[in-house]
Parts: sequence; C-alpha cells; structure tokens
Amino acid sequence: MKERVTRRSLLGGAGAAGLIGAFPAAAQSARADEGSFQGKVVLITGATSGIGEATAKAFAAQGAKVGFCGRREQLGREVERQIRRAGGQARYIKADVRVPAQVKAFVDEVARHFGGLDIAFNNAGVSATADPHELTVEQWDDVNDTNARGVFLSIKYEVPHMLSKGGVIICTSSGAAERARPNGAAYTASKRAVQGIVKAAALAYGTRGIRVNAILPGTTDTPFIRVPGLSDEEWEKFKKAYGPLNIDGLERVAEPEEIAGAVLALASPEFGYMTGTSVPVDGGATAGRKMVLPPGTPRS
Ligand SMILES: NC(=O)c1ccc[n+]([C@@H]2O[C@H](COP(=O)([O-])OP(=O)(O)OC[C@H]3O[C@@H](n4cnc5c(N)ncnc54)[C@H](OP(=O)(O)O)[C@@H]3O)[C@@H](O)[C@H]2O)c1
Repeated sequence: MKERVTRRSLLGGAGAAGLIGAFPAAAQSARADEGSFQGKVVLITGATSGIGEATAKAFAAQGAKVGFCGRREQLGREVERQIRRAGGQARYIKADVRVPAQVKAFVDEVARHFGGLDIAFNNAGVSATADPHELTVEQWDDVNDTNARGVFLSIKYEVPHMLSKGGVIICTSSGAAERARPNGAAYTASKRAVQGIVKAAALAYGTRGIRVNAILPGTTDTPFIRVPGLSDEEWEKFKKAYGPLNIDGLERVAEPEEIAGAVLALASPEFGYMTGTSVPVDGGATAGRKMVLPPGTPRS
C-alpha cells in the first residue's frame, strides 16, 4: 500500500497545540541571567513547533537571546510568549525559508534586534512520502526548496554576521540521509544535500572561526510524525509499539527535548574542535538493521 504523508497532513489534531504546552518545568523556572549561553544570540529556523520549539526554549532557559521563524504566526507568537513568561528572551519573526528576501530580512532583523549573531540552528523542514514515480514535481520541489535550498539561504545570510567574530551553525539533516526508504527519495535527497552544504561551509569558514555541523535526528515525537486522527492516549500506545519494531538500540521514539539537548551540546565550546560532521542522534537507529518507516506505514 502506498501512503502519501506530508508534514501538513501530520499537523492535524492536537499535535502542535499539545507540544506548546510541553515546556519542561525546569526551563519554565530558569532565569535568563544565568546559564551556559548567557547573552548569546541564537537564531532558529522552524521553531513554531517540534524540535525547533524545544531548542528555542532550551537555549532561552540557558540565558540566550533567541530569534526564530516559521510561517504559522499564531504558534510563533505563542512560543515567544511562553519563553518570555518563563523569564527568557525571544523574538518571533514570520519568515518562509523558501523565499530569499524573507530569509535575509529575518536573519538581519535578529542580528539587528539582539546585536549580532553567535549561533544559528537551521532546522525548518518538511517531508513528502511516495515512491519516485508517484512523487509529484511540486512535492519534490517543496521538500528540496525547504530542506536544502532553505539551509543554503540561511547559511548565505547568516555567515556575513559571523565573519568578524566567528560563530556556530548547526543544520538539521536526518537519519534518513543515511538510510533511504523506497518512498523517501525527495526527503533523503534533501537531507543528504544538507550534509553536503555543511561540509562545504565548514571548509569555507573554518579559518574565520565558524563551525558548521549537521545533526541527524532519529524518529522524534513532533507533529512531523504524528499519525492524524489518533487521540493522545492512542498515540502513546502506538509509539510504545512503534519503537521496538522500527528503532534498533533504544527501541523508542525520541522526545524533541532530547534532540534540543544535543544541539545545545554541539553549540557549546566543549565541541570547539568539531566541524564539517554529521552527528546522528537517533537512539541507535542508523547503527542497526531495521528500516525506519514513517509512523502509520504498515509493515508488509
Ligand atoms: N520528527 C522527526 O522524526 C524528525 C526526524 C529527523 C529529522 N527531522 C527534521 O527535524 C526538523 C524539525 O522537524 P520537527 O520534527 O520538529 O517537525 P515540525 O514540528 O513539523 O517542525 C517543522 C518546523 O519547520 C518549519 N517550517 C517548515 N517549512 C517551513 C518554511 N517553508 N519556512 C519556515 N519554516 C518552515 C515549521 O514551521 P511552520 O509550519 O510554522 O512554517 C516548523 O516550525 C525538520 O527539518 C525535519 O526534517 C525530524
């Protein structure tokens, strides 16, 4: 059975709204005048939900000033409000990473508003699943324009703000860059492209003090993967069964906060000698033999 799943179709139900409420208690009580990213300016693309949202909150809880984008204004404003209410500093700016002028305006405004740019997390992404002959040209273009071209555009406009004093760029690729699925051509191609851009940028800017790495999340519980139509209780049950069937190693789906934790670690000076790499944070999935299927895909 062929299944076509877009990020949009996975966004139905309580998914995004549920995550909005999932700001961890520790982060909520954190003060912006303490923390290991105190005063750093962090830019994130795609932080209106999921991994980006969790990362924005985690950086803000560690004292960073966070500027982030996404197209869904209401969610963006809500994430911004939650971070500020918890004592953090955040600014949401509506921007579509497929549109060069919007990416440039977003990046420049974050740097202007907060006074520079130290760390960028280029994370916005979408997916489309269909075997190659059934994938539409529009789906291919949308996935690649968002995931690959969007990362190129982000780096293009971020780097000028980092050339004089260095910085850190982390880009979201995927475990799918390393392990293809029959119906994942557009997504895998786009996420491998991210790894290529990261390698080139790491070489181009190494001597300017800019580190560039890719993170490869495994299956993570965000609206990206949520099966439409399931109640929260059904989804929890589904996830419990999904992990052991699909994910070697830890045999469970990641929480977005776990991916955020890895992003913060990579951005920290402790990883100051790491650049040009792709780091899987996938519970062991790429080390194993199971084929990770999008949740909801029946195993034949
Ligand atoms: N969840 C997983 O299992 C998994 C695994 C590996 C990799 N990833 C990658 O992780 C990243 C984050 O995904 P997620 O799981 O957190 O899913 P998500 O909750 O759907 O988040 C995707 C984010 O990207 C933003 N986005 C999408 N298209 C955009 C565009 N054209 N312009 C600006 N922002 C855009 C979305 O914001 P708007 O819709 O508001 O624009 C949203 O904030 C993606 O790159 C995804 O490919 C996810």
